[in-house]
Amino acid sequence: MIDSHAHYDDERFDKDRDQVLKDCIAHGVTHIINAGSNIESSKKSIELAEKYPFVYAAVGVHPHDAKECDINTIETLKFLSKANKVVAIGEIGLDYHYDFSPRDTQKEWFARQIALARDLKLPIIIHDRESHSDILDIIKSEKAYEVGGVFHCFSGSKEMAREVLNLGFRIGLGGAVTFKNARRPVEVLEYVPLDMLLVETDCPYMAPEPHRGKRNWSGYIKYVLEKISEVKGIDYALAEEITSNNAIHLFKLQFGN
Ligand code: NI
Repeated sequence: MIDSHAHYDDERFDKDRDQVLKDCIAHGVTHIINAGSNIESSKKSIELAEKYPFVYAAVGVHPHDAKECDINTIETLKFLSKANKVVAIGEIGLDYHYDFSPRDTQKEWFARQIALARDLKLPIIIHDRESHSDILDIIKSEKAYEVGGVFHCFSGSKEMAREVLNLGFRIGLGGAVTFKNARRPVEVLEYVPLDMLLVETDCPYMAPEPHRGKRNWSGYIKYVLEKISEVKGIDYALAEEITSNNAIHLFKLQFGN
């Protein structure tokens, strides 16, 4: 199974990162995409990808950190993207729930990082929280559909999912589909065709049931796959195979390392 979105550079893994990543392999995790949130964590993502054969990196600045961007940011990301095993620009987007950066600043750097992704021909990993219509507007105006990507930890409605799919973007689902009150994520899961679905942890956040609230890790992807197999009425092994193939295809991952 593939964890299409993780943050193993997070300090919550400082004490046992090596052990957790070893355990991932023992639990059947074949690939992990470690997403950057700012320049520092993008660099750490690359370091993890260099150290662990099954870890890949995405580089980018999260909307929370958009206010830290400056004249050098795009050039720095461009430089970092040349490292081996950088497979995407992300995570990038808008977050109107926390508004840690001013919205105009978030929009500016989302657009500029899309332009970078198009320049590099890399897919994008999108963070969208309570910002659906602006996200879609910018994706259209910046022609982000030319590189495609994934709406990670998708939190929109079925109608939003339809628009996302029409633009050719995949939908990433994680722990939220397993929550007991998860009406909307399950509706989205019912609606999205399997071949457009990625699974993810967003660890250390978003641990699925029955571990909700604890530190998440890629071994818990199995609970998300169990939910997918239940809702879609297919074998677990098939849910695993299809979602893995989707991630391999989107991020052009290699087999067998
Ligand atoms: Ni994330």
